[in-house]
Amino acid sequence: MPDNPTPEIIDALWVNAQLATMKPDNPYGMIKNGAIAVSEGKLAWVGHEKDLPAEIRSAATRTHNARGACITPGLIDCHTHLIYGGSRVREFELRLLGASYEEISRQGGGIVSTVSATRKADEDRLFHESGRRLSAIISEGVTTVEVKSGYGLDLETELRMLRVAKMLEDAFPVTVCPTYLGAHALPEEYRNRSDEYIDFVCDRVIPAVASQQIAQAVDVFCETIGFSLEQTERVFKASRDRGLPVKLHAEQLSDQGGAALAARYGALSADHLEYLSEDGAQAMAASGTVAVLLPGAYYFLRETHLPPIDLLRRYGVPMALATDCNPGSSPATSPLLMLNMACTLFRLTPEEALAGVTRFGAAALGLGKVKGTLEIGKDADFVLWDISDPAELAYRFGFNPCRQVVRNGTPIESDHFEDDTSNT
Ligand code: NIG
Ligand code: FE
Repeated sequence: MPDNPTPEIIDALWVNAQLATMKPDNPYGMIKNGAIAVSEGKLAWVGHEKDLPAEIRSAATRTHNARGACITPGLIDCHTHLIYGGSRVREFELRLLGASYEEISRQGGGIVSTVSATRKADEDRLFHESGRRLSAIISEGVTTVEVKSGYGLDLETELRMLRVAKMLEDAFPVTVCPTYLGAHALPEEYRNRSDEYIDFVCDRVIPAVASQQIAQAVDVFCETIGFSLEQTERVFKASRDRGLPVKLHAEQLSDQGGAALAARYGALSADHLEYLSEDGAQAMAASGTVAVLLPGAYYFLRETHLPPIDLLRRYGVPMALATDCNPGSSPATSPLLMLNMACTLFRLTPEEALAGVTRFGAAALGLGKVKGTLEIGKDADFVLWDISDPAELAYRFGFNPCRQVVRNGTPIESDHFEDDTSNT
């Protein structure tokens, strides 16, 4: 039973709920017949309803009857590229005719074609188009989303993308964690001069991003069609010098040793990891770097080389899960579908999958102390689902049982929301 002192103000109470707290103590951190109290946007009490102190019950300004709903922490989509211009539907057709993602990229398609479209799109257009994708993601219970730049590559467009990330946070009920991903692809104007482009990223853009405090982390695409290990390390050093944490697109299409490098720089996460080696997994475990699994990209690129889940388990590397929402490798806006794919394609358990979009999704963003589990003192971000067992979130696909999202202790208006509220 929680032993925290009772806060004076209890803004709201939820009773008659099944709490999947996602604390690691028991499967799903489950508390049957649970209650949650919220004070000033934080979780003030979480536990068995029978243990709810009378003073909390009577102090609550509002009491919500969850009517048996399963409550989980707000979902965290810790890897997206949801801000971009244009579409890559032609490229999808080319790939169906046999061209590979790498071939298309080497022929000047792929990421750089999205760069052209994004450079042409003004802030309003980017906001409007990415807002539609963000709404779809939020409708499935996401309360925190990471958003990368990386489709501008020049200073002006990268900063525009990061400003749009902030505009989205101001307009939607979601916490947005912006990441600068300048080293995503080589822009046309730097053709055959990739080291000079990395100079530009390190000497011009990272200082600007840091001084404007417009991104919370820096990412790199370390790959044969991206940037080399040496170039990646230069970006990591420049980020470290400016106090910006790093993360990495690592071993997606080949083993470059990126995950071990990321671990050496204390990266928050290394993401994709289909070609991760045992040394890489060990290094990640030692540094506490989270493995972010992206089954949408694996599926959409028809990849056949599975990420080494058993190695990650064996070394105790925390596994997060995300949509990778982007126009080229994962045009996905359904975190719930990712739960199902993580189980069917990667053989994660439903509990591991749910931990991947809650506890470990938070860790991948450096937010493990404030989000990701239902624990006293953390942000009151949670979701009421019309399910009787949390495993159902991974079991079904193409179905959204989200009844109500609560963010910072406040229920978010939604068409599906039915509440049973009584004032006490
Ligand atoms: O996570 N791998 C690099 N970046 C994205 C794909 C971006 C794109 O194709 O537009 C990814 O898969
Ligand atoms: Fe990505």
